[in-house]
Amino acid sequence: MDVFINGNFVPAAQAAVSVQDRGLLYGDGLFETLRAEAGGPVWLRRHLKRLTDSAAAINITLPTDFPWEGHICALLRRNALENSLAAVKILVTRGETPVLGLPPAHQPTIILYARPYTPPTPAEYREGWPVVSFPEPRRSFLSRHKSLNYLFCLAARQYALDHGGREGLIFEADGSVSEGAATALLWQEDKHFFTPSAPGALPSVTLAVLREALSRTGIPLMAVRASVARLAAAAGLWLANSLMGLLPVASLDGRKLPVSPETEDLNRLLWSEAG
Ligand SMILES: Cc1ncc(COP(=O)(O)O)c(C=O)c1O
Repeated sequence: MDVFINGNFVPAAQAAVSVQDRGLLYGDGLFETLRAEAGGPVWLRRHLKRLTDSAAAINITLPTDFPWEGHICALLRRNALENSLAAVKILVTRGETPVLGLPPAHQPTIILYARPYTPPTPAEYREGWPVVSFPEPRRSFLSRHKSLNYLFCLAARQYALDHGGREGLIFEADGSVSEGAATALLWQEDKHFFTPSAPGALPSVTLAVLREALSRTGIPLMAVRASVARLAAAAGLWLANSLMGLLPVASLDGRKLPVSPETEDLNRLLWSEAG
């Protein structure tokens, strides 16, 4: 496998970052996970917008002339992934500087790598995943950014796995529902679609794309404060991210939920969006 690191494509085994890189020392950096199809990234512009906005929020200035698309396409070609589904990761760290705080990043570390992506099976898209509530509430401005400090999300996912689930449900500090450990949330009541209005949730690219696609068909996707009871009473509840699109939730904390028959149509609508 070849990866891109700081200007060069190199075999993964030869790719190295300094032990003083702040991504390693402090999780001082950001990442994006993108789906790639037919040799190119999906919804790249939106992922780069989120990355750039988050970088600005933590005082990392990204190079303005970086050929993101060209490098991602070259990476896919080098790894023989032009004809398959792939997951592409963009990693940016502040690089090396010993100063505490958020000093300007003069030479951010930029890493790109790609791997084959196997989506959930047709049965999983049909029947959904069990979801389990993570009992630790979350209050951190970091959660609005896809920061390299991903431990809270990993712990929520692990808690779900340990309790018979496939995804963890994360709560805001006020007890309202926020998002999944690696997914945004969408639910349906009658013909209306909702997502949690959650100040700590990551602004999801998938939901932004879906919101636009739905609104063109005259269907709004509204953000409202969400409780587990409201989700459990929905006509359908989905997990959403850029890799798998929409996947239904089969149960919430052991309580079976109705699985909406609309998953396929919604995913068709989603993947038809150029973004
Ligand atoms: C915590 C969290 N929330 C939501 C999402 C969904 O974001 P997107 O739709 O941009 O992939 C992700 C994606 O990995 C995530 O990690």
